[in-house]
Amino acid sequence: MKVGIIGATGYGGIELYRILSNHPNVTRCNLYTSSDEGKPYVSVYPHLHDLCSDQLHPLEPERVKEENEVIFLATPSGVSANLTPKLIDDRVKIIDLSGDLRLKEAGQYEKWYKKTPAAEHVLNDAVYGLSEINRSKIKEAQIIANPGCYPTATLLGLAPIVQNQLVKPKTIIVDAKSGVSGAGRKPSIGTSFVELQDNLKIYKVHEHQHIPEIEQQLHEWDKEVQEITFSTHLIPMTRGIMATIYVELLEDWENKRLLDLYKQFYKDKPFVRVRDEGVFPSTKDVYGSNYCDIGLKFDPRTNRLTIVSVIDNLMKGAAGQAVQNFNIMFGIEETTALRFIPVYP
Ligand SMILES: NC(=O)c1ccc[n+]([C@@H]2O[C@H](COP(=O)([O-])OP(=O)(O)OC[C@H]3O[C@@H](n4cnc5c(N)ncnc54)[C@H](OP(=O)(O)O)[C@@H]3O)[C@@H](O)[C@H]2O)c1
Repeated sequence: MKVGIIGATGYGGIELYRILSNHPNVTRCNLYTSSDEGKPYVSVYPHLHDLCSDQLHPLEPERVKEENEVIFLATPSGVSANLTPKLIDDRVKIIDLSGDLRLKEAGQYEKWYKKTPAAEHVLNDAVYGLSEINRSKIKEAQIIANPGCYPTATLLGLAPIVQNQLVKPKTIIVDAKSGVSGAGRKPSIGTSFVELQDNLKIYKVHEHQHIPEIEQQLHEWDKEVQEITFSTHLIPMTRGIMATIYVELLEDWENKRLLDLYKQFYKDKPFVRVRDEGVFPSTKDVYGSNYCDIGLKFDPRTNRLTIVSVIDNLMKGAAGQAVQNFNIMFGIEETTALRFIPVYP
């Protein structure tokens, strides 16, 4: 199959290239840029020396449609809302890594992203690509709204108890931390070495654009679950997300029963690994991989459950899950090109 990557010069783009260039069903990877056309890809990413002779092509929608069967968009918010309608074609499937197609209500997108939303028909057609949970819809989809990195970690951490309606409404608190590649390759003061190194920063308090995305999905699973408290921090590391989730349950649970519930829920899901009692994952456990690792412990003193969910933001949080969705969409074994041991240490 021929696949195209729009936004190939960014971190999501290079991660897609890393996976797709090793994918047995992919014969050609076409790379598109809005700013570096004609340049060899290796000039943008020197670690590809002797491994890649591809050039960056101009981003012309008609040409992109002609040249590919699948198009991955790894572009900043606001781009795919505008570009997707120009790329839609019966012969082409689209997987968007940005937040543009995730929120079903256009007004919510305007409110949280402060940008013009995608057309209604595009939002209606887009399937939310949380691979583990939405497999059957993903299989049939023409457009995938690939989930955000924080939402992936948070939703996989909460799915077993929210889908089983065990959660006391309004008690979900998510304390999340991300490595700096989550902010993309474009330089900014806030992500410069001097500002970040030896520092821990909270940002977008109660304003993060992933809040409505998480709430939308939780509400779909359990109508009683609505607002959450969600905070995000930048940690001086390259990759990784840890979401520490605190939640009250409707009844008392024993830890072992909860662990059994999680293990049962994820037993056929190869990329979610639930830890044994007393063991909690750290971000290094999933570095460079498509795994989401989960650990949990119920506190009978406070009647609160603590869940720790970790992912690699560029893999399970972006390119890895996008390829997992690509596999599901085309009936390819779900783990193809993604089943490898995380990088350690
Ligand atoms: N980084 C993560 O961990 C992560 C995780 C989940 C989701 N995402 C989402 O994935 C998307 C890409 O993120 P990223 O981290 O890869 O960002 P990035 O490193 O900043 O790369 C974005 C790329 O988009 C291209 N671009 C910029 N403006 C454009 C425009 N007006 N039209 C077309 N292309 C444009 C740029 O390439 P050219 O200049 O070459 O066109 C740029 O290299 C974002 O929406 C982000 O929210 C990122």
